[in-house]
Amino acid sequence: MAEFNTETETLAEAVRTNLFAPAQEMSTLGRKGLPMLKGGEGIYVIDSEGRRLIDGPAGMWCTQIGYGRREIADALADQSMHLSYNSPWYTSNSPAAKLAARIAEMTPGDLTRIFFTTGGSTAVDTALRFTEFYNNILGRPQKKKIVVRMDGYHGSTSLTAACSGRTGNWPNFDVAQDRINFLSSPNVRLAGNRTEAEFLDDLVAEFETLIEEKGADTIAAFLAEPLLASGGVIIPPTGYHARFKAVCEANDIIYISDEVVTGFGRCGEWFASEKVFGVVPDIITFAKGVTSGYVPLGGLAISEKLLDRVSGENAKGGSFTNGYTYSGHPVSCAAALANIEVIERDGILAHVNEVSGHFAAALKALEDLPGVADIRSKGLVGCVECMVDPGRSEVTDADKALGLRIDEICFSLGLIVRPIGNMCVLSPPLIITRQEIDSMCEILREGILRAGEEKGAAQRSAA
Ligand SMILES: Cc1ncc(COP(=O)(O)O)c(C=O)c1O
Repeated sequence: MAEFNTETETLAEAVRTNLFAPAQEMSTLGRKGLPMLKGGEGIYVIDSEGRRLIDGPAGMWCTQIGYGRREIADALADQSMHLSYNSPWYTSNSPAAKLAARIAEMTPGDLTRIFFTTGGSTAVDTALRFTEFYNNILGRPQKKKIVVRMDGYHGSTSLTAACSGRTGNWPNFDVAQDRINFLSSPNVRLAGNRTEAEFLDDLVAEFETLIEEKGADTIAAFLAEPLLASGGVIIPPTGYHARFKAVCEANDIIYISDEVVTGFGRCGEWFASEKVFGVVPDIITFAKGVTSGYVPLGGLAISEKLLDRVSGENAKGGSFTNGYTYSGHPVSCAAALANIEVIERDGILAHVNEVSGHFAAALKALEDLPGVADIRSKGLVGCVECMVDPGRSEVTDADKALGLRIDEICFSLGLIVRPIGNMCVLSPPLIITRQEIDSMCEILREGILRAGEEKGAAQRSAA
């Protein structure tokens, strides 16, 4: 390795030379590094130059209770000294047992059976593999198709990536699979002249038509995020999930609610499916906020009614041979228990409900800035969609360049914004105060104004 003057330079060189990061732009591999973070405290991260930045996206929608929590560090250390690992194939451990019981109290309906995985992708992958197993045991090998939506995102395993409705993820990967069927994005912006109710009717009709065309006996599952997070915080029309669940029930289709982002307080509840979006699904997947990002963990909660059909006398000798070396990892589960304790002790769910109106209002106040095309939020997750010409519906490369420039300016002013094309997404740690929400939105305002001026963005009303 070459000699460098400072540790920072040496590390930056190692990033360029040896790290292969998610979503790596291959043309810049080895040439362009990534900003290095060296610390975190509350809602802030600290970069290698010692600058404090507000963590606008909560890492990757996950640092619910914020950085530097001694309680979590202690739980990790204690559990590591007691039992650092056990094989989930033939033993269990106390943190996994306690966590399963605790999560079973949080889930709606009879979703009381918890399977642990290593993160969100493996949680969704397991849910989908369960539907495959389920239908094979039930003697319906043809009932395997999965229905998903455009703009949805469900992970990065082969199967979950094939379920991604974010077209930017498709090029150069063999994601096209016959068994995956896409429905329209439930983005109300696409309703055109239709009312929200008419738009919803059309979305439901599209699902029913697909079932009719393919045959209910070929469709295993409907997989949906309560709100489409990575797709740009798309909040479906009111009543969407309940209507889709009714269609699923009528056709014996398993409804999987992917709560990898919305779980663990993002919308002010442990899980958002029932309490925020009015649906009791058959399976809920979770990850991220379950440990506030301190260590990896994911999982799914499955309905007992579903399990009854393929277990006990109905098992037909089947074993669910899906699992991970780190399923129910004792150290991760201990971190999750400590995280849940902090969320409860500090009243963080109530806090989210208290400040989410303020968050929504602070975002809404950006509405009239040049380049702002749409603003959406729910709980503590929001998106300001920007376009050079906010009157257009198609997103162009110029719009993406505008988004990127906003992110760069915000970074230089002390705020990380999740870079998703032309969409400025904020989903801060759940402990954020009103004052900090104001600071975050002030920086975003400045970023939108400056980038808009540079790129010649127009006012929405002028479009
Ligand atoms: C809704 C949703 N599901 C699944 C995943 C995949 O989770 P992971 O990156 O932990 O594998 C993500 C990641 O952002 C997500 O947003």
